[in-house]
Amino acid sequence: MVIFGASGDLTHRKLIPALYNLAKDNLLPPNFAIIGFARRAKTDESFRQECYESVVAHSRSKLIDEEIWSTFSKLLHYHQGNYDNNADYDALNERLSAIDSGHGTQGNRLYYLSTPPEAYTLITEKIGTTSLTQVKSDKCWTRVIIEKPFGRDLASARALNTHVHKFFTEDQIYRIDHYLGKETVQNILVLRFANGIFEPIWDRRYIDHVQITVAEAIGVEGRGSYYESAGVIRDMVQNHVMQLLALTAMEPPAEFEADAVRNEKVKVLKALRLDSSHPEALVRGQYSPGKVNGQLVVGYTQEEGVAQDSNTETYLAMKLLIDNWRWAGVPFYVRSGKRLKRRLTEIAIHFRLPPRMLFSEHTAQQIEPNVLVMTIQPDEGISLKFGAKRPGTGEQVQPVVMDFQYGDAFNIAAPEAYERLILDCVLGDSTLFTRSDEVEAAWSLITPIFEDWVKNPTFIEQYRAGSAGPKGAADMISGDERQWRSL
Ligand code: BG6
Repeated sequence: MVIFGASGDLTHRKLIPALYNLAKDNLLPPNFAIIGFARRAKTDESFRQECYESVVAHSRSKLIDEEIWSTFSKLLHYHQGNYDNNADYDALNERLSAIDSGHGTQGNRLYYLSTPPEAYTLITEKIGTTSLTQVKSDKCWTRVIIEKPFGRDLASARALNTHVHKFFTEDQIYRIDHYLGKETVQNILVLRFANGIFEPIWDRRYIDHVQITVAEAIGVEGRGSYYESAGVIRDMVQNHVMQLLALTAMEPPAEFEADAVRNEKVKVLKALRLDSSHPEALVRGQYSPGKVNGQLVVGYTQEEGVAQDSNTETYLAMKLLIDNWRWAGVPFYVRSGKRLKRRLTEIAIHFRLPPRMLFSEHTAQQIEPNVLVMTIQPDEGISLKFGAKRPGTGEQVQPVVMDFQYGDAFNIAAPEAYERLILDCVLGDSTLFTRSDEVEAAWSLITPIFEDWVKNPTFIEQYRAGSAGPKGAADMISGDERQWRSL
Protein backbone atom coordinates (compact mmCIF):
# COMPACT_ATOMS: atom_id res chain seq x y z
CA MET A 1 0.00 0.00 0.00
CA VAL A 2 1.51 3.27 -1.11
CA ILE A 3 0.27 6.35 0.72
CA PHE A 4 0.81 9.57 -1.24
CA GLY A 5 0.76 12.47 1.18
CA ALA A 6 2.45 10.48 3.92
CA SER A 7 3.29 13.56 5.98
CA GLY A 8 -0.27 14.87 5.98
CA ASP A 9 -2.90 15.16 8.64
CA LEU A 10 -5.20 12.47 7.26
CA THR A 11 -2.40 9.93 7.09
CA HIS A 12 -1.43 10.48 10.69
CA ARG A 13 -4.85 11.01 12.24
CA LYS A 14 -6.75 8.30 10.38
CA LEU A 15 -4.82 6.00 8.04
CA ILE A 16 -1.89 4.90 10.21
CA PRO A 17 -4.07 4.37 13.33
CA ALA A 18 -6.55 2.41 11.17
CA LEU A 19 -3.77 0.22 9.76
CA TYR A 20 -2.37 -0.35 13.25
CA ASN A 21 -5.79 -1.43 14.53
CA LEU A 22 -6.27 -3.77 11.56
CA ALA A 23 -2.89 -5.31 12.43
CA LYS A 24 -3.91 -5.53 16.08
CA ASP A 25 -7.15 -7.30 15.17
CA ASN A 26 -5.17 -9.62 12.92
CA LEU A 27 -7.07 -8.48 9.83
CA LEU A 28 -4.22 -7.39 7.59
CA PRO A 29 -3.20 -9.99 5.03
CA PRO A 30 -0.01 -11.84 6.05
CA ASN A 31 1.89 -10.38 3.09
CA PHE A 32 1.42 -6.67 3.48
CA ALA A 33 3.66 -3.60 3.48
CA ILE A 34 3.09 0.13 3.62
CA ILE A 35 5.19 2.75 1.95
CA GLY A 36 4.71 6.44 2.65
CA PHE A 37 5.51 8.74 -0.29
CA ALA A 38 5.96 12.47 0.31
CA ARG A 39 8.27 15.39 -0.36
CA ARG A 40 9.99 15.73 2.99
CA ALA A 41 13.24 13.90 3.65
CA LYS A 42 12.78 11.11 6.20
CA THR A 43 14.23 7.74 6.92
CA ASP A 44 12.17 4.61 7.45
CA GLU A 45 13.10 4.90 11.11
CA SER A 46 11.98 8.52 11.53
CA PHE A 47 8.73 7.76 9.64
CA ARG A 48 8.10 4.80 11.97
CA GLN A 49 8.68 7.03 14.99
CA GLU A 50 6.18 9.62 13.66
CA CYS A 51 3.67 6.87 13.00
CA TYR A 52 4.13 5.55 16.54
CA GLU A 53 3.26 8.99 17.90
CA SER A 54 0.21 9.18 15.61
CA VAL A 55 -1.07 5.87 16.88
CA VAL A 56 -0.56 6.93 20.49
CA ALA A 57 -2.42 10.19 19.84
CA HIS A 58 -5.23 9.07 17.54
CA SER A 59 -5.85 5.34 17.69
CA ARG A 60 -9.18 4.13 19.11
CA SER A 61 -7.27 1.54 21.14
CA LYS A 62 -5.38 4.03 23.20
CA LEU A 63 -2.81 1.75 24.79
CA ILE A 64 -0.30 0.75 22.19
CA ASP A 65 0.66 -2.92 22.37
CA GLU A 66 4.47 -2.86 22.03
CA GLU A 67 4.68 -6.39 20.70
CA ILE A 68 2.13 -5.73 17.97
CA TRP A 69 3.76 -2.40 17.23
CA SER A 70 7.13 -4.03 16.83
CA THR A 71 5.76 -6.41 14.16
CA PHE A 72 3.60 -3.73 12.53
CA SER A 73 6.36 -1.11 12.36
CA LYS A 74 8.45 -3.44 10.19
CA LEU A 75 5.74 -3.09 7.54
CA LEU A 76 6.26 0.69 7.40
CA HIS A 77 8.62 2.26 4.86
CA TYR A 78 9.19 5.76 3.60
CA HIS A 79 10.05 7.02 0.14
CA GLN A 80 10.92 10.64 -0.50
CA GLY A 81 9.73 12.02 -3.81
CA ASN A 82 8.11 14.86 -5.72
CA TYR A 83 4.74 14.24 -7.28
CA ASP A 84 5.88 15.68 -10.63
CA ASN A 85 9.18 13.85 -10.99
CA ASN A 86 9.16 10.70 -13.14
CA ALA A 87 12.47 9.53 -11.69
CA ASP A 88 10.97 9.51 -8.21
CA TYR A 89 8.18 7.20 -9.40
CA ASP A 90 10.72 4.95 -11.11
CA ALA A 91 12.68 4.80 -7.86
CA LEU A 92 9.44 4.06 -6.02
CA ASN A 93 8.82 1.21 -8.44
CA GLU A 94 12.23 -0.27 -7.65
CA ARG A 95 11.51 0.06 -3.98
CA LEU A 96 8.20 -1.72 -4.45
CA SER A 97 9.84 -4.56 -6.34
CA ALA A 98 12.28 -5.00 -3.47
CA ILE A 99 9.35 -4.99 -1.04
CA ASP A 100 7.58 -7.61 -3.18
CA SER A 101 10.58 -9.87 -2.63
CA GLY A 102 10.94 -9.06 1.06
CA HIS A 103 7.27 -9.13 2.07
CA GLY A 104 5.77 -11.49 -0.53
CA THR A 105 3.35 -8.84 -1.81
CA GLN A 106 3.35 -10.36 -5.31
CA GLY A 107 2.99 -7.15 -7.31
CA ASN A 108 -0.36 -6.19 -5.76
CA ARG A 109 -0.62 -2.41 -5.40
CA LEU A 110 -3.00 -0.23 -3.44
CA TYR A 111 -2.32 3.46 -4.01
CA TYR A 112 -3.92 5.82 -1.50
CA LEU A 113 -4.21 9.46 -2.56
CA SER A 114 -4.15 11.26 0.75
CA THR A 115 -2.89 14.52 -0.76
CA PRO A 116 -4.58 17.86 -1.43
CA PRO A 117 -7.05 17.30 -4.30
CA GLU A 118 -5.00 19.44 -6.70
CA ALA A 119 -2.46 16.60 -6.84
CA TYR A 120 -4.93 13.85 -7.86
CA THR A 121 -4.60 14.33 -11.64
CA LEU A 122 -0.83 14.45 -11.56
CA ILE A 123 -0.34 11.42 -9.33
CA THR A 124 -2.84 9.21 -11.18
CA GLU A 125 -1.20 10.15 -14.46
CA LYS A 126 2.25 9.31 -13.10
CA ILE A 127 1.08 5.97 -11.74
CA GLY A 128 -0.41 5.27 -15.15
CA THR A 129 2.53 6.37 -17.31
CA THR A 130 5.77 5.69 -15.42
CA SER A 131 7.41 2.35 -14.76
CA LEU A 132 4.82 1.76 -12.02
CA THR A 133 2.41 0.57 -14.74
CA GLN A 134 4.72 -2.31 -15.59
CA VAL A 135 3.23 -4.45 -12.87
CA LYS A 136 0.44 -6.02 -14.85
CA SER A 137 -0.51 -9.62 -14.77
CA ASP A 138 -3.64 -11.65 -14.18
CA LYS A 139 -2.26 -12.72 -10.86
CA CYS A 140 -1.92 -9.30 -9.25
CA TRP A 141 -4.11 -6.27 -8.86
CA THR A 142 -3.77 -2.47 -8.77
CA ARG A 143 -6.33 -0.27 -6.99
CA VAL A 144 -6.43 3.40 -6.15
CA ILE A 145 -8.26 5.09 -3.30
CA ILE A 146 -9.14 8.71 -3.95
CA GLU A 147 -10.08 10.92 -1.03
CA LYS A 148 -12.82 13.51 -1.05
CA PRO A 149 -13.46 16.06 -2.41
CA PHE A 150 -13.78 14.35 -5.79
CA GLY A 151 -14.07 17.50 -7.92
CA ARG A 152 -15.45 20.80 -6.76
CA ASP A 153 -18.46 20.89 -9.09
CA LEU A 154 -20.06 18.73 -11.75
CA ALA A 155 -17.69 19.79 -14.55
CA SER A 156 -14.51 19.19 -12.55
CA ALA A 157 -15.79 15.86 -11.18
CA ARG A 158 -16.56 14.75 -14.74
CA ALA A 159 -13.13 15.91 -15.92
CA LEU A 160 -11.46 14.05 -13.05
CA ASN A 161 -13.44 10.89 -13.84
CA THR A 162 -12.42 11.11 -17.52
CA HIS A 163 -8.80 11.67 -16.53
CA VAL A 164 -8.61 8.84 -14.01
CA HIS A 165 -10.36 6.46 -16.42
CA LYS A 166 -7.45 6.91 -18.84
CA PHE A 167 -5.24 5.04 -16.38
CA PHE A 168 -7.59 2.87 -14.32
CA THR A 169 -10.78 0.97 -15.00
CA GLU A 170 -13.78 1.88 -12.84
CA ASP A 171 -13.43 -1.31 -10.79
CA GLN A 172 -9.92 -0.23 -9.79
CA ILE A 173 -11.07 3.16 -8.50
CA TYR A 174 -12.24 3.49 -4.90
CA ARG A 175 -13.67 6.96 -4.19
CA ILE A 176 -13.86 7.20 -0.45
CA ASP A 177 -16.60 8.76 1.65
CA HIS A 178 -15.73 7.81 5.19
CA TYR A 179 -19.39 8.02 6.32
CA LEU A 180 -20.03 4.79 4.40
CA GLY A 181 -17.47 3.03 6.59
CA LYS A 182 -19.29 3.94 9.80
CA GLU A 183 -20.93 0.94 11.42
CA THR A 184 -24.17 2.75 12.05
CA VAL A 185 -24.40 3.96 8.46
CA GLN A 186 -24.07 0.39 7.23
CA ASN A 187 -26.75 -0.52 9.71
CA ILE A 188 -29.27 1.59 7.76
CA LEU A 189 -29.23 -1.16 5.13
CA VAL A 190 -29.41 -3.90 7.74
CA LEU A 191 -32.35 -2.30 9.51
CA ARG A 192 -34.20 -1.82 6.25
CA PHE A 193 -33.38 -5.07 4.47
CA ALA A 194 -32.66 -7.65 7.17
CA ASN A 195 -36.03 -7.02 8.84
CA GLY A 196 -39.39 -7.75 7.35
CA ILE A 197 -41.43 -5.18 9.22
CA PHE A 198 -39.97 -1.87 8.04
CA GLU A 199 -39.89 -2.14 4.27
CA PRO A 200 -43.67 -2.45 3.74
CA ILE A 201 -44.24 0.86 5.52
CA TRP A 202 -41.19 2.63 4.08
CA ASP A 203 -42.96 4.89 1.61
CA ARG A 204 -45.25 7.84 1.03
CA ARG A 205 -48.33 6.00 2.32
CA TYR A 206 -46.97 5.76 5.86
CA ILE A 207 -44.14 8.27 6.05
CA ASP A 208 -44.95 11.95 6.48
CA HIS A 209 -41.40 13.26 6.14
CA VAL A 210 -37.76 12.47 6.87
CA GLN A 211 -35.23 14.63 8.74
CA ILE A 212 -31.50 14.16 8.29
CA THR A 213 -29.22 16.04 10.68
CA VAL A 214 -25.43 16.15 10.50
CA ALA A 215 -24.53 18.64 13.23
CA GLU A 216 -21.05 19.33 14.55
CA ALA A 217 -19.92 21.26 17.61
CA ILE A 218 -16.44 21.81 16.21
CA GLY A 219 -15.53 24.76 13.99
CA VAL A 220 -13.20 24.71 11.01
CA GLU A 221 -10.27 23.50 13.14
CA GLY A 222 -7.39 25.29 11.44
CA ARG A 223 -8.70 24.42 7.95
CA GLY A 224 -10.08 27.91 7.32
CA SER A 225 -8.52 28.44 3.93
CA TYR A 226 -9.76 25.07 2.60
CA TYR A 227 -13.20 25.68 4.10
CA GLU A 228 -13.46 29.11 2.47
CA SER A 229 -13.51 27.47 -0.95
CA ALA A 230 -15.72 24.56 0.13
CA GLY A 231 -18.41 25.69 2.57
CA VAL A 232 -20.64 23.13 4.17
CA ILE A 233 -22.25 22.38 0.83
CA ARG A 234 -19.07 20.82 -0.60
CA ASP A 235 -17.54 19.72 2.70
CA MET A 236 -20.49 17.75 4.08
CA VAL A 237 -23.65 17.98 2.00
CA GLN A 238 -22.51 16.84 -1.46
CA ASN A 239 -20.96 13.72 0.01
CA HIS A 240 -21.89 12.61 3.54
CA VAL A 241 -25.45 13.99 3.67
CA MET A 242 -26.27 12.76 0.17
CA GLN A 243 -24.99 9.29 1.05
CA LEU A 244 -27.16 9.12 4.17
CA LEU A 245 -30.16 10.20 2.15
CA ALA A 246 -29.48 7.71 -0.65
CA LEU A 247 -29.20 4.79 1.78
CA THR A 248 -32.42 5.82 3.50
CA ALA A 249 -34.42 6.24 0.30
CA MET A 250 -33.01 3.61 -2.09
CA GLU A 251 -34.97 0.62 -3.34
CA PRO A 252 -33.92 -2.84 -2.12
CA PRO A 253 -31.17 -4.02 -4.49
CA ALA A 254 -31.60 -7.41 -6.15
CA GLU A 255 -28.44 -8.60 -4.42
CA PHE A 256 -25.96 -7.26 -1.88
CA GLU A 257 -23.20 -6.60 -4.33
CA ALA A 258 -21.31 -3.40 -5.17
CA ASP A 259 -22.97 -2.47 -8.44
CA ALA A 260 -26.45 -3.59 -7.44
CA VAL A 261 -26.32 -1.38 -4.31
CA ARG A 262 -24.81 1.57 -6.13
CA ASN A 263 -27.31 1.35 -9.00
CA GLU A 264 -30.12 1.91 -6.51
CA LYS A 265 -28.33 4.82 -4.81
CA VAL A 266 -27.74 6.53 -8.15
CA LYS A 267 -31.45 6.31 -8.98
CA VAL A 268 -32.31 8.17 -5.78
CA LEU A 269 -29.72 10.88 -6.38
CA LYS A 270 -30.98 11.38 -9.93
CA ALA A 271 -34.56 11.76 -8.73
CA LEU A 272 -33.66 14.28 -6.02
CA ARG A 273 -34.51 17.99 -6.29
CA LEU A 274 -35.02 21.08 -4.18
CA ASP A 275 -38.68 21.78 -3.51
CA SER A 276 -39.07 24.77 -5.80
CA SER A 277 -42.63 25.38 -4.62
CA HIS A 278 -41.37 26.26 -1.14
CA PRO A 279 -40.40 29.95 -0.78
CA GLU A 280 -37.43 29.09 1.48
CA ALA A 281 -36.39 25.58 0.46
CA LEU A 282 -32.78 26.42 1.23
CA VAL A 283 -31.28 28.33 4.15
CA ARG A 284 -27.61 29.29 4.50
CA GLY A 285 -26.04 30.28 7.76
CA GLN A 286 -22.66 31.29 9.19
CA TYR A 287 -21.66 31.07 12.84
CA SER A 288 -20.96 34.14 14.89
CA PRO A 289 -19.08 34.11 18.24
CA GLY A 290 -20.72 32.16 21.03
CA LYS A 291 -20.27 29.41 23.57
CA VAL A 292 -19.91 25.73 22.74
CA ASN A 293 -19.76 23.23 25.59
CA GLY A 294 -19.18 26.09 28.02
CA GLN A 295 -16.20 27.49 26.03
CA LEU A 296 -16.24 30.86 24.32
CA VAL A 297 -15.48 30.46 20.64
CA VAL A 298 -14.85 32.94 17.83
CA GLY A 299 -17.14 33.47 14.89
CA TYR A 300 -16.34 32.00 11.47
CA THR A 301 -14.94 35.24 10.05
CA GLN A 302 -12.44 35.48 12.91
CA GLU A 303 -11.05 32.01 12.18
CA GLU A 304 -7.54 31.81 10.74
CA GLY A 305 -7.48 31.76 6.94
CA VAL A 306 -11.03 33.11 6.65
CA ALA A 307 -11.82 36.46 4.99
CA GLN A 308 -13.35 39.03 7.32
CA ASP A 309 -16.16 39.59 4.86
CA SER A 310 -16.48 35.91 3.93
CA ASN A 311 -19.80 34.77 2.57
CA THR A 312 -19.05 31.08 2.90
CA GLU A 313 -21.82 29.14 4.61
CA THR A 314 -21.07 26.96 7.63
CA TYR A 315 -24.70 25.79 7.84
CA LEU A 316 -27.16 24.64 5.23
CA ALA A 317 -30.72 23.38 5.50
CA MET A 318 -32.69 22.19 2.49
CA LYS A 319 -36.10 20.80 1.72
CA LEU A 320 -35.69 18.10 -0.89
CA LEU A 321 -38.13 15.93 -2.80
CA ILE A 322 -37.58 12.64 -4.58
CA ASP A 323 -39.48 12.22 -7.81
CA ASN A 324 -40.35 8.56 -7.76
CA TRP A 325 -43.35 6.42 -6.80
CA ARG A 326 -42.06 5.51 -3.36
CA TRP A 327 -41.38 9.06 -2.22
CA ALA A 328 -43.62 11.37 -4.27
CA GLY A 329 -44.65 14.25 -2.02
CA VAL A 330 -42.57 13.18 1.02
CA PRO A 331 -40.18 15.98 2.02
CA PHE A 332 -36.65 15.15 3.08
CA TYR A 333 -35.45 17.98 5.31
CA VAL A 334 -31.67 17.94 5.63
CA ARG A 335 -29.41 20.18 7.69
CA SER A 336 -25.71 20.27 8.41
CA GLY A 337 -23.55 22.80 10.17
CA LYS A 338 -20.52 23.53 12.26
CA ARG A 339 -20.39 25.08 15.74
CA LEU A 340 -23.89 23.94 16.58
CA LYS A 341 -25.09 23.06 20.04
CA ARG A 342 -23.74 19.53 19.92
CA ARG A 343 -22.46 16.79 17.70
CA LEU A 344 -25.33 14.74 16.35
CA THR A 345 -25.83 12.72 13.19
CA GLU A 346 -29.24 11.13 12.87
CA ILE A 347 -31.94 10.13 10.43
CA ALA A 348 -35.47 10.49 11.72
CA ILE A 349 -38.39 8.89 9.89
CA HIS A 350 -41.61 10.67 10.87
CA PHE A 351 -44.67 8.53 10.23
CA ARG A 352 -48.19 9.71 9.51
CA LEU A 353 -50.82 9.83 12.21
CA PRO A 354 -53.39 7.00 12.25
CA PRO A 355 -55.94 7.50 9.46
CA ARG A 356 -58.85 7.74 11.87
CA MET A 357 -58.91 8.78 15.50
CA LEU A 358 -60.97 6.55 17.76
CA PHE A 359 -60.41 8.54 20.87
CA SER A 360 -61.98 11.68 22.25
CA GLU A 361 -60.85 14.98 20.82
CA HIS A 362 -58.93 15.68 24.00
CA THR A 363 -57.05 12.37 23.82
CA ALA A 364 -56.48 12.68 20.10
CA GLN A 365 -54.65 15.94 20.70
CA GLN A 366 -52.13 14.10 22.86
CA ILE A 367 -51.31 11.61 20.14
CA GLU A 368 -47.99 12.25 18.45
CA PRO A 369 -46.79 10.65 15.23
CA ASN A 370 -44.48 7.63 15.44
CA VAL A 371 -40.83 8.48 14.83
CA LEU A 372 -38.09 6.00 14.05
CA VAL A 373 -34.66 7.52 14.72
CA MET A 374 -31.38 6.04 13.55
CA THR A 375 -28.63 7.77 15.50
CA ILE A 376 -25.36 7.52 13.61
CA GLN A 377 -23.26 9.35 16.22
CA PRO A 378 -22.41 9.96 18.98
CA ASP A 379 -24.90 7.76 20.96
CA GLU A 380 -25.25 5.10 18.28
CA GLY A 381 -28.62 3.44 18.36
CA ILE A 382 -32.17 3.13 17.05
CA SER A 383 -35.28 4.33 18.79
CA LEU A 384 -38.98 4.17 18.07
CA LYS A 385 -41.47 6.58 19.55
CA PHE A 386 -45.05 5.39 19.95
CA GLY A 387 -48.11 6.23 22.02
CA ALA A 388 -48.93 4.22 25.15
CA LYS A 389 -51.86 4.38 27.50
CA ARG A 390 -50.93 6.08 30.71
CA PRO A 391 -51.95 3.72 33.56
CA GLY A 392 -55.18 4.78 35.26
CA THR A 393 -58.88 4.89 34.70
CA GLY A 394 -58.70 7.80 32.27
CA GLU A 395 -57.84 7.58 28.62
CA GLN A 396 -54.55 9.41 28.46
CA VAL A 397 -52.06 8.65 25.71
CA GLN A 398 -48.43 9.41 26.30
CA PRO A 399 -45.51 9.12 23.87
CA VAL A 400 -42.90 6.58 25.01
CA VAL A 401 -39.64 5.50 23.41
CA MET A 402 -38.28 2.04 22.72
CA ASP A 403 -34.54 2.39 22.65
CA PHE A 404 -31.75 0.24 21.29
CA GLN A 405 -28.18 1.34 22.07
CA TYR A 406 -25.24 -0.32 20.34
CA GLY A 407 -23.00 0.25 23.33
CA ASP A 408 -25.35 -1.70 25.64
CA ALA A 409 -26.37 -4.41 23.22
CA PHE A 410 -22.95 -5.43 21.92
CA ASN A 411 -19.97 -5.26 24.16
CA ILE A 412 -17.63 -4.76 21.22
CA ALA A 413 -15.82 -1.58 20.19
CA ALA A 414 -16.81 -0.63 16.65
CA PRO A 415 -13.93 -0.26 14.20
CA GLU A 416 -13.16 3.18 12.79
CA ALA A 417 -14.63 3.87 9.34
CA TYR A 418 -11.16 3.90 7.77
CA GLU A 419 -10.39 0.41 9.08
CA ARG A 420 -13.39 -1.08 7.34
CA LEU A 421 -12.83 0.86 4.12
CA ILE A 422 -9.11 0.11 3.76
CA LEU A 423 -9.78 -3.56 4.40
CA ASP A 424 -12.64 -3.64 1.86
CA CYS A 425 -10.34 -2.13 -0.75
CA VAL A 426 -7.64 -4.70 0.00
CA LEU A 427 -10.30 -7.40 -0.43
CA GLY A 428 -11.59 -5.81 -3.65
CA ASP A 429 -15.07 -4.97 -2.37
CA SER A 430 -16.22 -1.55 -3.59
CA THR A 431 -19.78 -1.62 -2.19
CA LEU A 432 -18.98 1.12 0.33
CA PHE A 433 -17.20 3.35 -2.19
CA THR A 434 -18.75 5.88 -4.54
CA ARG A 435 -19.03 5.05 -8.22
CA SER A 436 -18.32 7.65 -10.94
CA ASP A 437 -21.98 8.14 -11.89
CA GLU A 438 -22.93 8.40 -8.22
CA VAL A 439 -20.48 11.19 -7.54
CA GLU A 440 -21.65 12.98 -10.67
CA ALA A 441 -25.32 12.57 -9.71
CA ALA A 442 -24.63 14.19 -6.33
CA TRP A 443 -22.78 17.07 -8.00
CA SER A 444 -25.64 17.48 -10.51
CA LEU A 445 -27.97 18.38 -7.68
CA ILE A 446 -25.51 20.54 -5.76
CA THR A 447 -23.74 22.45 -8.55
CA PRO A 448 -26.68 24.55 -9.80
CA ILE A 449 -27.33 25.55 -6.18
CA PHE A 450 -23.96 27.15 -5.56
CA GLU A 451 -23.73 28.47 -9.11
CA ASP A 452 -26.94 30.30 -8.41
CA TRP A 453 -25.41 31.81 -5.23
CA VAL A 454 -22.73 33.39 -7.40
CA LYS A 455 -25.26 34.85 -9.83
CA ASN A 456 -27.80 35.88 -7.19
CA PRO A 457 -25.93 36.33 -3.91
CA THR A 458 -28.19 34.87 -1.24
CA PHE A 459 -28.56 36.09 2.27
CA ILE A 460 -26.42 34.26 4.80
CA GLU A 461 -27.97 34.39 8.21
CA GLN A 462 -25.67 34.56 11.23
CA TYR A 463 -26.30 32.04 14.00
CA ARG A 464 -24.70 32.08 17.39
CA ALA A 465 -22.05 29.38 17.89
CA GLY A 466 -23.53 26.81 20.25
CA SER A 467 -27.10 27.40 19.06
CA ALA A 468 -29.36 25.12 17.01
CA GLY A 469 -28.64 27.07 13.82
CA PRO A 470 -30.25 29.96 11.95
CA LYS A 471 -33.82 30.97 12.64
CA GLY A 472 -34.53 30.76 8.90
CA ALA A 473 -34.09 26.99 9.06
CA ALA A 474 -36.71 26.75 11.81
CA ASP A 475 -39.03 28.97 9.76
CA MET A 476 -38.47 26.81 6.68
CA ILE A 477 -39.86 23.71 8.34
CA SER A 478 -42.46 25.43 10.50
CA GLY A 479 -43.89 26.93 7.29
CA ASP A 480 -44.85 23.32 6.52
CA GLU A 481 -46.34 22.90 10.02
CA ARG A 482 -43.51 20.66 11.10
CA GLN A 483 -40.56 21.11 13.43
CA TRP A 484 -36.92 20.14 13.51
CA ARG A 485 -36.06 17.63 16.16
CA SER A 486 -34.26 19.36 18.95
CA LEU A 487 -30.48 19.31 18.90
C1 BG6 B 1 -15.03 15.56 6.91
C2 BG6 B 1 -15.17 17.04 6.80
O1 BG6 B 1 -15.29 14.93 5.68
O2 BG6 B 1 -15.97 15.05 7.86
C3 BG6 B 1 -14.97 17.70 8.16
O3 BG6 B 1 -14.20 17.54 5.89
C4 BG6 B 1 -15.92 17.09 9.18
O4 BG6 B 1 -15.20 19.11 8.07
C5 BG6 B 1 -15.79 15.57 9.16
O5 BG6 B 1 -15.60 17.61 10.46
C6 BG6 B 1 -16.84 14.94 10.05
O6 BG6 B 1 -16.59 13.57 10.16
P1 BG6 B 1 -17.06 12.76 11.45
O7 BG6 B 1 -16.65 11.36 11.13
O8 BG6 B 1 -16.33 13.36 12.61
O9 BG6 B 1 -18.53 12.96 11.55
